[in-house]
Amino acid sequence: MKIRIDPERCQGHGRCYDLAPELFSEDDEGYGQVIGDGLVPPDKERAARLAVSNCPERAIEIS
Ligand code: F3S
Repeated sequence: MKIRIDPERCQGHGRCYDLAPELFSEDDEGYGQVIGDGLVPPDKERAARLAVSNCPERAIEIS
C-alpha cells in the first residue's frame, strides 16, 4: 500500500497527522504531508485507512 496527499485538495484539517502521526506530518502552514516515500508497512495499513476515511476533503489517496 502507498499513500499520497493531493495538495490541490488538502485544506489543512489536520486529521491525518492527528490520527496517524507515524504516517503523516504537517508542513509549516499546517497542511498534511506524507512521511517518507508513502509506503505503508502492513501493520500501519489500518491507520492509513482511518486517515483516508477521516479527511473531510478526501485528499488522501491509496494505491
Ligand atoms: Fe489535509 Fe485531509 Fe490531512 S485536508 S491535513 S489531508 S486530514
